[in-house]
Amino acid sequence: MKRARDSRWTMTATREVTYEVVTTSDIFDPDNPELGLLPGGRMGGGTRLVVIDEAVERVFGNKIRRYFNLNNIAVEYMTLCGGEENKTIDAVLKVASKLSEIGTDRVGTPPIAIGGGVLQDIVGMTASLYRRGIPYVRVPTTLLGQIDGSVSAKNGVNYEGCRNRLGTFAPPPKTLIDRALLATLPERQIRSGLGEALKVALIKDARLFELLETHGSELVRYRLQDSDARSGDSQPSLEVIQRSITGMAEGLTKNLWESELKRIVDYGHTFSPIVEMRALPKLHHGEAVAMGCLFSAVLAANRGLLNPEQLIRIINTTAGIGLPLTHPLFADADVMKEALADTMRHRDNNQHITFLADIGKTVFVEDVVDAEIERASAFMAHLLQPHVPDDAALTKLLSEPGATTGYDASQLAHRAV
Ligand SMILES: NC(=O)c1ccc[n+]([C@@H]2O[C@H](COP(=O)([O-])OP(=O)(O)OC[C@H]3O[C@@H](n4cnc5c(N)ncnc54)[C@H](O)[C@@H]3O)[C@@H](O)[C@H]2O)c1
Ligand SMILES: [Zn+2]
Repeated sequence: MKRARDSRWTMTATREVTYEVVTTSDIFDPDNPELGLLPGGRMGGGTRLVVIDEAVERVFGNKIRRYFNLNNIAVEYMTLCGGEENKTIDAVLKVASKLSEIGTDRVGTPPIAIGGGVLQDIVGMTASLYRRGIPYVRVPTTLLGQIDGSVSAKNGVNYEGCRNRLGTFAPPPKTLIDRALLATLPERQIRSGLGEALKVALIKDARLFELLETHGSELVRYRLQDSDARSGDSQPSLEVIQRSITGMAEGLTKNLWESELKRIVDYGHTFSPIVEMRALPKLHHGEAVAMGCLFSAVLAANRGLLNPEQLIRIINTTAGIGLPLTHPLFADADVMKEALADTMRHRDNNQHITFLADIGKTVFVEDVVDAEIERASAFMAHLLQPHVPDDAALTKLLSEPGATTGYDASQLAHRAV
């Protein structure tokens, strides 16, 4: 209730955010100015902190040092270990303390983060907190970091057993992407990164899906380093990276601060987080996401939204990349129901599940029932066998009547929104 002498001031302000993601080649070649430039194109003056992932330091450390030496850019180095277990608030404080030690300015000496998604999230969070926010430069060195984290405004660390529980929205003004840095990644990391590319393909880019379908195994084998000699005129790796970044950027740009909770780019991320947290041996993020994509595709196929041939293409493409199709936790309907309930808490108690209506086309559904989850989990259980069932066996599995699990799929199909 307003009292006679009460007053109220309402402050409203809008902050426009612009940041760029730039592809470059030979990023550590001293003649390439990109790495040394300050956002806005000026050369650096004071001392800058360069934070390097330990694995990257082993491979590229000498080149990085040579780059800054020859360009007379004053820098200090520190290394951090990759891996989810190292994404902690302690790591953020360690970076902050190094920034203090070298006297980082509010604007003029933005740190440079060279490493995978874990390092990017740590340095990004530190930069967003230090002096209430300083700019920084992102150089992602994993495929996941290049196609997914690169366009994101988010950072964060794990806290009290929860992934990304502490974090902020604070994109760096500049992200530099050099595909050649991926040449030293373990194959499993490449596959995991392609899991996110597959997600983008399924929700909005049928051409990207065709590239993954046709070139999946060689993209992994050559670690996205195709040369003209190997692939003729076409450069599938380049196109896969560019299309993935474009797809992510389009998906994020209208909803950068995630005020809208219905997000198509969350495809594959509804059922996967719980699996990612609980699976032992540990799964990589892109592996869990790829399984999440498949689980949702099975749900859509069982409703008759996606036809069986399309689902089989998705299964074969996932397997072609060398990604695991399923996991016992996806085959456990109780875990999947729990996963949905958990995710709904992040979505204001709405399901907001993205379903595929075709490869590259989506609809949202809000009314998935337990029996559908049970049927999809039963399908995922069939995929647990060491050999992927052939197309005929998959078709047979998909044609099993929905009535056996107590719901009529034809009744639900039209309820997608
Ligand atoms: N902020 C975002 O929007 C966003 C988006 C996607 C992912 N992420 C986060 O990213 C993290 C996963 O990232 P990741 O998969 O890059 O993991 P990561 O950073 O742990 O890197 C994976 C492994 O590869 C090593 N490595 C990195 N670059 C290498 C190279 N060029 N050659 C050889 N080895 C190299 C690392 O040392 C590490 O062991 C997760 O914590 C996830 O939450 C954040
Ligand atoms: Zn993801």
